Amino acid sequence: MAIVLAIETSCDETAVAVVNDRVCCSSVVASQIPIHQKYGGIVPEVASRCHVETLNDAIAQALAEANIDWEAIDGVAATCAPGLVGALLVGFTAAKSLALVRNKPFLGVHHLEGHIYASYLSELDLEPPFICLLVSGGHTSLIYVKDCGYYETLGETRDDAAGEAFDKVARLLQLGYPGGPIIDKLAKEGNPLAFPLPEGKVSLAGGGYHPYDSSFSGLKTAVLRLVQKLQQEHSQLPVNDLAASFQETVAKALTKRAIACALNYGVNTIAVGGGVAANSGLRSHLQAAAKERHLRVIFPPLKYCTDNAAMIGCAAADHLNRGHTSPLTLGVQSRLSLTKVMQLYQHESAG
Ligand code: KG4
Ligand code: ZN
Repeated sequence: MAIVLAIETSCDETAVAVVNDRVCCSSVVASQIPIHQKYGGIVPEVASRCHVETLNDAIAQALAEANIDWEAIDGVAATCAPGLVGALLVGFTAAKSLALVRNKPFLGVHHLEGHIYASYLSELDLEPPFICLLVSGGHTSLIYVKDCGYYETLGETRDDAAGEAFDKVARLLQLGYPGGPIIDKLAKEGNPLAFPLPEGKVSLAGGGYHPYDSSFSGLKTAVLRLVQKLQQEHSQLPVNDLAASFQETVAKALTKRAIACALNYGVNTIAVGGGVAANSGLRSHLQAAAKERHLRVIFPPLKYCTDNAAMIGCAAADHLNRGHTSPLTLGVQSRLSLTKVMQLYQHESAG
């Protein structure tokens, strides 16, 4: 059993949580969305400054809500990669300092491993192996989860992440930021079959298509061309139909690839993570396809799908239980492959 105080500041949420293995004792998330909204996207320098301003209060609040004092805490963790370097540094430096001052083990956590662990917070019986479909503003990955710290990325996007595609299409339809929730809402009023759009297959050098990789930049361009054409023909854009058709294309593409991974790797569970897990089109397509194939599909509660520190704490607790801790010389990295997670830790036995 390990109780961990975890900090997540890799992007635009200042988040702090206290987690006891798979049980979330408190989870504070201070979103910066309203601040970035006026710029139409995240401004890295603004994000870092907001983290500095918000973090101390968030730590105090997380400790108070968990009703826990420092003696009971077994370790301090923070996201160390991937993410915006300036933003990561704020939470990471705070966590290191707290670990040093309170004489607790320190753990750097890979942000995507955190997203994988969001499923453990809601499904207490979940055990690897399973497939994680991670779809957020920065990532679109299909991950084969073998064990704590051991992952294989089976599929990725070759260009835009799924959430980024939602945000960009929303911007070109002048719907505001973040685009995913707005497109999802409008799509409910539209016809998903109104406009056929390309799903973004990735060609292989030897012919055929990559079974798990995706590409959303062509889809975004196809929506742009369609919008330009429709603007010439009509005085008013059929925004609901455009939103529904775009969402349908993304949802079907992700579902097809996730199901293929599960079947080809012989696992019976698909766990979804990241902000796009909120998408109603993805939920209904994936749930229906999984049911047909007798697969279990897990959509953790939204509070654990979008960026939060509970998922970071849950991953850190599992590592800590296995004797994994990070050296205080560890740094932050803007990019880091999931296959390198174990490089973040030294084993207890190694001294
Ligand atoms: O996981 P997340 O909170 O942050 C990271 O990117 O790590 O994901 C944010 C992304 C944004 O691109 C947002 O537009 C998208 O998730 N999103 C959605 C929905 N809600 C949030 N995309 C589609 N449908 C939604 N309902
Ligand atoms: Zn994330």
